[in-house]
Amino acid sequence: MISDIQKEILRLKKENDIGILAHVYQNPEILEVADFTGDSYALAVKAQDMPNKTVIMCGVRFMAETVKMLSPDKKVILSNKDAGCPMAEMMDKELISEVKKQYPDHTVVAYINTTSELKTICDVCVTSSSALKICKQIDNDKILFIPDCNLGSWIADQLPEKQIKLLNGGCPTHAKFNEDDVLKVKEEHPDALFLVHPECKPEVVKHADYVGSTTGIMNYAKESDAKEFIIGTENSIVSHLQLACPDKMFYAMSKDCVCHNMRATTLVDVLNCIKGTSGDVIEMDEATIVAAKKPIDEMIKLGG
Ligand code: 13P
Ligand code: SF4
Repeated sequence: MISDIQKEILRLKKENDIGILAHVYQNPEILEVADFTGDSYALAVKAQDMPNKTVIMCGVRFMAETVKMLSPDKKVILSNKDAGCPMAEMMDKELISEVKKQYPDHTVVAYINTTSELKTICDVCVTSSSALKICKQIDNDKILFIPDCNLGSWIADQLPEKQIKLLNGGCPTHAKFNEDDVLKVKEEHPDALFLVHPECKPEVVKHADYVGSTTGIMNYAKESDAKEFIIGTENSIVSHLQLACPDKMFYAMSKDCVCHNMRATTLVDVLNCIKGTSGDVIEMDEATIVAAKKPIDEMIKLGG
């Protein structure tokens, strides 16, 4: 029974002083045993003050690396060693070092979905929920925004006073949908509001009634008086919202909006992590932690 595994996890994590952080894309049975759940920004802020000596991150690798940078003395475990973020692995330090040479007067803004190694040469990190607020405050009109060109162009549209240089990166889960997919689902549900993650292409985002992070989308749907919503992000959010708001209707933008990396973690993985037979203990050298933490600290300072 799922509840038996959950009880065992709760017992063992208390006994061993282990905290569990989970991104909201995780399955409900994992969210139920977590100490804290949220979007990337909320998880990063929470990572600073987890009281436990061991922290398990149920999400993807860059999230576990962020926890390690913010709590270097803790043992940090990624719940499933294969859960990476393809966008984070799209651009490396060598490539961006070369690009920086072409734009020496630009502030380098890195989406938090980047490797710790790449963060060591960036000025400030952002998440989908904090990007606009942070980019507005940057004391430089010239910004090199990496790696997500969709999030970057959503920001650029709202900050015409800034010159924002984008590169051709993005999330393979969100960026595969086109305007035609949106028009089709909107035609099927003409009364539904369309809530979209800014990792989607501009041709998708332009049809949105609301654009925001995973948590932003969930909060908007819960607080709205509307009764029907099309969810333009990973389909786990459709299920979470349907469970949370049984009197409302939620529809996926597409059945294919699934991030296999975010879905890789199972409840058994979490149990085995606690038992020490699964997961990946995050190891980072001191120099990387110090350099990669700077843009994260800057994000938390400017993000509030
Ligand atoms: P959020 O910061 O909105 O949770 O985004 C994380 C992510 O990877 C979305 O695909
Ligand atoms: Fe990375 Fe996209 Fe998956 Fe988010 S949904 S973890 S950005 S691949």
